[in-house]
Amino acid sequence: MTTRPSAAPASPGAPGTDIAIRLQNVHLRYGDKIVLSGLTLDCERGKVTTVIGLSGAGKSTILRLINGLRRPTAGRVIVNGLDLAGLRENELNALRRKMGFAFQAAALFDSMTVAENVAFPLYEHTTLSRDEIDRRVHETLESLGLADVAQRLPAELSGGMQKRVGFARAIVNEPEILLFDEPTTGLDPIMTNVITDTIKQIQAHLHATSVVVMHDMPVVYAISDNIAMLFEGAIIESGPTAEFRRSKNPIVQQFLQGSEVGPIPL
Ligand SMILES: Nc1ncnc2c1ncn2[C@@H]1O[C@H](COP(=O)(O)OP(=O)(O)OP(=O)(O)O)[C@@H](O)[C@H]1O
Ligand SMILES: [Mg+2]
Repeated sequence: MTTRPSAAPASPGAPGTDIAIRLQNVHLRYGDKIVLSGLTLDCERGKVTTVIGLSGAGKSTILRLINGLRRPTAGRVIVNGLDLAGLRENELNALRRKMGFAFQAAALFDSMTVAENVAFPLYEHTTLSRDEIDRRVHETLESLGLADVAQRLPAELSGGMQKRVGFARAIVNEPEILLFDEPTTGLDPIMTNVITDTIKQIQAHLHATSVVVMHDMPVVYAISDNIAMLFEGAIIESGPTAEFRRSKNPIVQQFLQGSEVGPIPL
């Protein structure tokens, strides 16, 4: 026997292996500000990995690194076995076509209607017919309670609605990797449930690899296969949801309980 199940795969993140996304000893700074310092994170293929952490800890930055919008100061970002640092622009774009990104702020095109915004990835990345695109856009908008606003402009919508349009645009293409930045922040409890159910359905039907950033803990527990906590530039704890919740790390427990008392400086 030459294979050892517990050994790291020879080519981390290659198709067919368990790890779709690997951040390895990543360092990142914005100017003088050190945000990530030796962050290591593996995201299992076909699973939901949620990154939790304090505001400003660098959670959105992690998603930007995975998408190649940011490059690490040091360390490696590997997606589907490809080290992003070694990719040419066209190769990076090909990889990005497999990813859906729902940004923290909806980041919609102001001059396009809701339907046009959601149709955008389908026109850009597929050869689907206009009818088929219309059908998919309508179906996605309907499932997120947005059918009635399909012809509106983003500026005419509430913040929560804009957020759902951004979410719709990220999933409409059924990408194999989904990056969700605080998908439920600012939504009412009913829409939070709609988004939660949609994320679960995507997992069940598409077996997508999702990386979610959020700190709404009941939702985190409901959707996550694995949870990782970012603190002071690194992942200090990660594991399957049930195990993570039992973590003995006092920083993790203080965060999960939302306690003002503990090692986390206020
Ligand atoms: N383009 C930038 N230039 C300079 N500093 C930045 C830039 N983007 C982010 N930062 C800083 O880097 C840190 C991490 O930012 P990031 O947005 O990743 O945090 P976050 O964990 O997503 O925060 P939040 O929970 O508030 O969304 C913050 O202190 C932020 O101010
Ligand atoms: Mg953020």
